[in-house]
Amino acid sequence: MTDFDSIFADEVDLIADATVLEEDYTPDQILCRDEVLSQYTSVFKPIYKGRPPQNAFLYGDTGVGKTAVTKYLCRTLEHDIERKNEQLSARDRITLTALWINCENFTSGDHTTSSYQVAVGIVNRLREPGNRINATGYAPQDVYDLLYEELDSLDGSILIILDEIDKLGSDDTLLYELPRSRDIGYLESVRVGVIGISNDYTFRKNLSPKVKDSLCETEIKFPAYDADELAVILRARAEQALYDSAYSQETISLCSALAYKEASGSARRAIRLLRRSAEVAEENSSEHINPPHIRQADEDLEYGNIVESIVDQDQEKLFVLAAIAHLDGADLTPARTRTIHATYSRVVRAYNTASGKEPLTQRGMFNHLSKLVMFGFVRTIDRNKGAGGGQWNEHEFTDDVDPQKVREAFAERDREWLSIDLRGVTG
Ligand SMILES: Nc1ncnc2c1ncn2[C@@H]1O[C@H](COP(=O)(O)OP(=O)(O)OP(=O)(O)O)[C@@H](O)[C@H]1O
Ligand SMILES: [Mg+2]
Repeated sequence: MTDFDSIFADEVDLIADATVLEEDYTPDQILCRDEVLSQYTSVFKPIYKGRPPQNAFLYGDTGVGKTAVTKYLCRTLEHDIERKNEQLSARDRITLTALWINCENFTSGDHTTSSYQVAVGIVNRLREPGNRINATGYAPQDVYDLLYEELDSLDGSILIILDEIDKLGSDDTLLYELPRSRDIGYLESVRVGVIGISNDYTFRKNLSPKVKDSLCETEIKFPAYDADELAVILRARAEQALYDSAYSQETISLCSALAYKEASGSARRAIRLLRRSAEVAEENSSEHINPPHIRQADEDLEYGNIVESIVDQDQEKLFVLAAIAHLDGADLTPARTRTIHATYSRVVRAYNTASGKEPLTQRGMFNHLSKLVMFGFVRTIDRNKGAGGGQWNEHEFTDDVDPQKVREAFAERDREWLSIDLRGVTG
């Protein structure tokens, strides 16, 4: 299919339009979400009618369409308002400013952010490049005042969409301030609606009552998809993305079944699996995506998933994992808690030379180690030598984890992989 030989070319091409399989592609059609759509449409109706916007809180597992449905509805709303405005006199026209804020974009190393950081982010989104404010150095209330000033300089309705809102952790000041701003009288010329989106159930549970009152005016739950629904979504995507001869109903069914089983009904996983399967088929010069390609793709994704979930761990757990990776590399696992602690201490000192931060005590480290066992990264072996023989625990990676994955996770966190002297750690 290519005109000349290139190491980048495959003999066959199965993907006609790769953008359709991209993460941030917003589908033209939302499938299998009729109930959610009708609930959600009523949240946006007031804006279309020129009335004050409402607040809403959306929740549901990862990959179930919260972001996609919101993007789709916003786009439709903006488009329909434009059409409606054509019919209206200048005085009656509806003004809408929709601000899409992904809280993940304001997180630091540990994947959390604060109300303050996000408020600064919104201010800067509304300001000209030369006029942006610094991320530090303001009193919190000053930042909110600046925020209200910026918002008040706009007109009409403002819809603030806070995606991945759980990244705010326990600090929900922003969620208290924003929805209530109009009631408290901070804003004169505009009306603000806030949409919060989260896949973390504990976040919703732990919201302070006053936030729940205002933000959760309407709550919309996105249930997980079943395998049949995944197949419907996937088929529509395949029709746009792949050549007809590249796939069959069997391709769609197997991808949907695997995504349903392994990622509890995530459409994101199903779409990723389809894309990776097409790539594997291409790499194997196959004109059609066959079951072995899908199984291979599924394994590839699992590998990436483990690395991603290691990346998401906090710093202390990463150090514990690095310690076990070093011991594993030297064939010293399963290892006793004290051996892991000795190694972990060396790891911490190697990485914290600049800050001088000291390692946790063995008991402190053990709390993190136990979490890693609970999350399925590490397995504990109970050594019991019977009466008088003593009893102790040893730890090693589960089958899902290996040193290479930990190294990759360090690379993704922009952390160098330092070598550690293991002499004497088992002593
Ligand atoms: N009902 C649907 N119809 C068509 N495509 C869908 C539907 N639901 C989800 N998708 C697609 O599945 C992928 C994941 O959806 P989305 O990003 O909206 O998940 P999410 O609920 O926001 O997940 P997270 O909590 O991880 O952010 C996207 O590519 C999206 O386009
Ligand atoms: Mg999302």
